Amino acid sequence: ALDDGQELSTQGKSFNLTDIIMTNHVKIFDTTLRDGEQAPGFSMTSGQKLKMAKALEGLGVDIMEAGFAAASPGDFEAIKTIATEVKDSIVCSLARCNEGDIRASGEAIKPAAKSGRGGRIHTFIATSPLHREFKLKMSMDEIVRRATAGIELARQYTDDVEFSCEDAIRTERDYLKRVVEAAIKAGATTINIPDTVGYTTPEEIQSLFEFLASDIEGADSVTFSAHCHDDLGLAVANSLAAVRGGARQVECALNGIGERAGNCALEEVAMALRTRKDFFGLSTQLKTEGLYGASKLLATITGNPVPRNKAIVGKNAFAHESGIHQHGVLANRETYEIMKPEDVGVSTDNLVLGKHSGRAALKNRAETLGFELGDNQLQSLFVKFKHLADEKKEVFDADIEALILGEAVGE
Ligand code: KIV
Ligand code: ZN
Repeated sequence: ALDDGQELSTQGKSFNLTDIIMTNHVKIFDTTLRDGEQAPGFSMTSGQKLKMAKALEGLGVDIMEAGFAAASPGDFEAIKTIATEVKDSIVCSLARCNEGDIRASGEAIKPAAKSGRGGRIHTFIATSPLHREFKLKMSMDEIVRRATAGIELARQYTDDVEFSCEDAIRTERDYLKRVVEAAIKAGATTINIPDTVGYTTPEEIQSLFEFLASDIEGADSVTFSAHCHDDLGLAVANSLAAVRGGARQVECALNGIGERAGNCALEEVAMALRTRKDFFGLSTQLKTEGLYGASKLLATITGNPVPRNKAIVGKNAFAHESGIHQHGVLANRETYEIMKPEDVGVSTDNLVLGKHSGRAALKNRAETLGFELGDNQLQSLFVKFKHLADEKKEVFDADIEALILGEAVGE
């Protein structure tokens, strides 16, 4: 057996145990406060950002992108405050590859970087032909020069520098290889491959990450990261495929908020990795029991409710109304639940009573409310309950009590 830190040598490469263990760890890079906040209708005040940052820290995210320091004085101050207050996650600021942005980010994360807790600068430049020609109006060589200079400057502020090739998915592979190799030589420690416009597919992105891991010089010394947008509803599937291809950081946002259709939803990717550990063989360090609360906090702060049928954190995610499902769940939860509600922080009393519900659920709820019913009593209650359920969308505990006590509205 090896002790942590002890060397293991195989096929001319040496690893230590920490590296081997860490390859099974997927870092969660949360961008709720940057890419998420950037979406119309989701902006937050500095105070709200700090509140959310504390919730994200409580969840155990490895890195939180707290904002874009050069975007506004308010964002600069918010990042600085978060970098001062947050102790357990690495705090990051986004910067374009220019001197002003990088210096602003370096200053904003200074409280975290100085304390030894770790502060990250995330710098990016677009690499795809469309962006080169129509947005940047820069040659391929010029972009490589900018990336290199930006990373070198960022390294003067922190050892933790992430570099992104914006629109990487639509970039020629040989050029992407050239930029990424230059970025690694310049000192980037994380290489992020964004699907900026949500264009890729699971098979395509998996093969791209496999290519990066095998064909890039210096690949062993960096963490590859996926940043998927949801324009085709594939962000989570694509992020999971990237992980299969070798990515060990996933960029995501709570409730899947972000530019246009949003980013990869943090709660979905985290629970997919946890629930299907048998398939992926990987873990995150998230305390998933905090997911529901953090999602609700974000919805309240931004004034954007979570859709009822949203995976993991929607009101219906663990609710069962139909009689067949309720019967199954009461006998054994696993009949219709692949995750335990309490693992994401949802209360276990989640059988919604309505017109599709059956006797088993009604009897169970009556017992929870303290009523032991004989067969005849249950039958008579069930008839009254079905009439009421036809009139109301949901039958609440107070309605059941009233029916049992013979005082129900609509009786
Ligand atoms: O989607 C994107 O390309 C981004 C980069 C800034 C990382 O958000
Ligand atoms: Zn993005």
